[in-house]
Amino acid sequence: MNPLNIVILAAGKGTRMYSNLPKVLHNLAGKPLVQHVLDCAQLLNPLKICVVYGHGGESVPKALASSTNANFVIQEPQLGTGHAVQQAMPLLSDDSQTLILYGDVPLIQHKTLHQMQQAGAGLTVLTVNLANPTGYGRIVRNEQADVVSIVEEKDATAEQREINEVNTGIMLAPTQFLRNWLAKLENNNSQGEYYLTDIVGMAVADGVAVHTVQPADEWEIHGINSKTQLAVLERSWQQVEANRLMVQGVTLADPARIDVRGKLVCGLDVEIDVGCIFEGEVSLGNNVKIGAYCIIRNSLLAEGTQIAPFSHIDSSIAGADCRIGPYARLRPGSKLHDDVHVGNFVEIKNSEIAQSSKANHLSYIGDSTIGRRVNIGAGTITCNYDGANKFRTIIEDDVFIGSDTQLVAPVTVASGSTIGAGSTITRDTPAGELTLSRSRQITINGWQRPAKQPK
Ligand code: UD1
Ligand code: CA
Repeated sequence: MNPLNIVILAAGKGTRMYSNLPKVLHNLAGKPLVQHVLDCAQLLNPLKICVVYGHGGESVPKALASSTNANFVIQEPQLGTGHAVQQAMPLLSDDSQTLILYGDVPLIQHKTLHQMQQAGAGLTVLTVNLANPTGYGRIVRNEQADVVSIVEEKDATAEQREINEVNTGIMLAPTQFLRNWLAKLENNNSQGEYYLTDIVGMAVADGVAVHTVQPADEWEIHGINSKTQLAVLERSWQQVEANRLMVQGVTLADPARIDVRGKLVCGLDVEIDVGCIFEGEVSLGNNVKIGAYCIIRNSLLAEGTQIAPFSHIDSSIAGADCRIGPYARLRPGSKLHDDVHVGNFVEIKNSEIAQSSKANHLSYIGDSTIGRRVNIGAGTITCNYDGANKFRTIIEDDVFIGSDTQLVAPVTVASGSTIGAGSTITRDTPAGELTLSRSRQITINGWQRPAKQPK
């Protein structure tokens, strides 16, 4: 097979999005539309990927440059899909095949494109039969059912508009032919544009075989022109993700109420309650249970860990059998070992907590290293920041910290220390001793509480 080049068309205006952001940079499943296409393109191991941009100017290459080695080619002005592909031609060698994808058709699947590559020598068009073909170019066939041409809706006869088989826009062509055909395009049509679709008629005239392939699922070829279509396709995709998880044995309380914006990998017997959002790369071990309305991003939760509702977990790791939440917040760099308990309204950041330690209520633990079997009382906070610098708090094994304690970092609480409730700890504490800082309690005998005067 000839080497493959991929051209992604992303210069169009996206008028109906009513947005300052170029259409192809709007997110679907947490990722720009065109990034989905780029990621899929990459799976085909092409020689080159060219992104044709235009509307929205440099914002498109700027948004993507760091995540791809694609070539960016400007199309200015935008004179149609054929003209768009033409802009990329100088970068493509004649001995290759060129695959044309659309930046606003985000969910095209690698398997379908692979099938197009297998269709045989010649021009291959990805088509689909739609109950309502309105707006699409129609596939015109002759009596032998061979493709003869594609006619745009605006140029179609009433009879041609009855055709249900439509052009998805995705095509695969021998580059040398493509170059010649594009050079011959004219814009004497109802939109005054250079139509890529006209190359089909040219292929037929040149005796080049025209093949069609259809996608396994219709959502693969849905394009985005409006926020409504974006929302509909987002739901289609989330349903696909939910099915994929359930097929693997994940229990979803409601497959219509989960959002996966990235990659979610689950072990056996994972249960996920409603309203959860998974972002980036998340991995859940066997028997993990996620309560309702949790947001989990770029994190790893080991076997048997349970997250109670309304918890946020970001760029963190939890070992086996941890109990987290409800209303817990693990900020980036939190590392919990096995059997750690983090309760309601506890915030943890850039801290490591060793096995079987507990912070069950209302705490802030930042920039800390906490040993095993430590108990952190309600309302305890680490004062890790002096307004300019951050400092570490070290709490060794078997420490018991009484409620409402402030640990002013840098400070070390040595192993086995007990800290009395309400203390402000500013100096290191000796191992195994009780340390507290607390003003003595006094009672004023006979003191009278002020009383309101009756009106
Ligand atoms: C195009 C096809 C039509 C097909 C439909 C599928 C043509 C002439 N028509 O129509 O047969 O059924 O897609 O959705 O090809 N673009 C550029 N530069 C341009 C014009 C468009 O980069 O000058 C890009 C757009 O950003 C978009 C894609 O090409 O990603 C399709 O453009 P669009 O204007 O939506 O084409 P349609 O008229 O829908
Ligand atoms: Ca379109």
